[in-house]
Amino acid sequence: MGLRKGKRQETDDRPEAQGMPGLAVELRGVRRQYGRGAGAVHALAGVDLALPRGSFTAVMGPSGSGKSTFLQCAAGLDRPSAGSVCLGGTEITGMRENRLTELRRSRLGFVFQAFNLLPSLTVEQNVLLPMRLAGQRRDRRRAAEVLARVGLADKARSRPGELSGGQQQRVAIARALVTSPDVIFADEPTGALDTGTAAEILGLLRHAVDALGATVVMVTHDPVAAAWADRVLFLADGVFADGLDRGSAEQIAARMAGLTSRAGAMMGAAA
Ligand SMILES: Nc1ncnc2c1ncn2[C@@H]1O[C@H](COP(=O)(O)OP(=O)(O)O)[C@@H](O)[C@H]1O
Ligand SMILES: [Mg+2]
Repeated sequence: MGLRKGKRQETDDRPEAQGMPGLAVELRGVRRQYGRGAGAVHALAGVDLALPRGSFTAVMGPSGSGKSTFLQCAAGLDRPSAGSVCLGGTEITGMRENRLTELRRSRLGFVFQAFNLLPSLTVEQNVLLPMRLAGQRRDRRRAAEVLARVGLADKARSRPGELSGGQQQRVAIARALVTSPDVIFADEPTGALDTGTAAEILGLLRHAVDALGATVVMVTHDPVAAAWADRVLFLADGVFADGLDRGSAEQIAARMAGLTSRAGAMMGAAA
């Protein structure tokens, strides 16, 4: 992800700082600024967040509201300009790049819109990749277990190219589950799928939370997808402006429309 290693004093030699127990994700005063001076963009303008373990959270917001920046900062793929991030009780702010990479591999799961599987590897090898990269013993029984969870017990030896889009995304979910991560970050996981297949994928994420105790944070623009979450958080201009618990797709869409028209009105006023 092209992160440059900071020249500033690293803080890794201290004992690991602990966040609040029971919280999977904790952000405090997180800001992310692009550029400086008059042209600076405040993509995140002070975000506070505390997500308990075993929760499913959707993050929505108009285009440019900071969703991608939020996900990158929360998942340790980008460094905030200010504030702190704790994952699974571990403070990652100021962590050295190699330790952060190791933490991402062993304690986070990722599901992307474009599946991001390695085409030359089998399904089983793709699922085992996070373990391999984290230097853990490759546990083939564990791979079989998570593949069975996502309904692909019989596809272990297939290559991604032999599978449908929905099946490929199931492999990505199995890969995200294999290390029993503290958090699974999903970025538009159903963006490339038809409605029926999308529902299957969202059902699997829901199942991971309900049956396996996983914690899922999902960015989406789709109110139907967001309605599978316990809670929807709405970003506007780099801050969480609103939240909705157990909302229906219609209720979520109505809140989104409110945010978008506000943003539109502001842009109109500025023009
Ligand atoms: N690398 C970057 N350089 C400069 N500005 C950026 C960069 N990435 C994002 N931005 C700006 O930050 C704001 C938030 O972007 P982003 O997080 O991508 O929003 P979203 O994912 O909700 O569309 C936008 O104004 C965007 O133009
Ligand atoms: Mg985005």
